[in-house]
Amino acid sequence: MAPPRVVWYAGRAMKRILFVCLGNICRSPTAEGLLRAIVKRRGLDDRVEIDSAGTGAWHVGNPPDRRMQQAAKRHGYTLGGRARQVTVEDFARFDLVLAMDRDNHADLLAMCPPEYAERVRLFRSYDDEGADPDTPDPYYGGEDGFDDVVRIVERCAERIADEIEA
Ligand code: 4NP
Repeated sequence: MAPPRVVWYAGRAMKRILFVCLGNICRSPTAEGLLRAIVKRRGLDDRVEIDSAGTGAWHVGNPPDRRMQQAAKRHGYTLGGRARQVTVEDFARFDLVLAMDRDNHADLLAMCPPEYAERVRLFRSYDDEGADPDTPDPYYGGEDGFDDVVRIVERCAERIADEIEA
């Protein structure tokens, strides 16, 4: 499936991208950290602003889950930031709000002002390999799940960086 073109920010110098999962301690901080590293490697870091948030508030203020940090490290990435909950203001602020799974997507659309609904997309719409629309939640599973998240996120983040570069 071809990634959706993000036409509404074409020609703008700064693109703001927000990744959203449930807790903001596993999947969305990984997307944030990996896209940061990839755009830096490509010299695009002055063209994009990247953040992440959770639909839930349980982990607000916490760093990324230790298991997620370790998996990212195994693949050569460092994660940072502290969890925060998504707010209604985020939809006006960010050009693109990428939901890590379909539950996150539905929760975001339920709170999104209708004029910004087009900005809310599924993260894996950028995946040219997997058919699964969800980035599986690794929180209650084993280590493999965290490595899977890194692999999925890395693939999609490269495609997002392509779009920033285009
Ligand atoms: P995330 O993972 O949404 O990828 O940050 C989770 C983190 C915490 C919980 C669930 C998923 N939790 O139930 O606390």
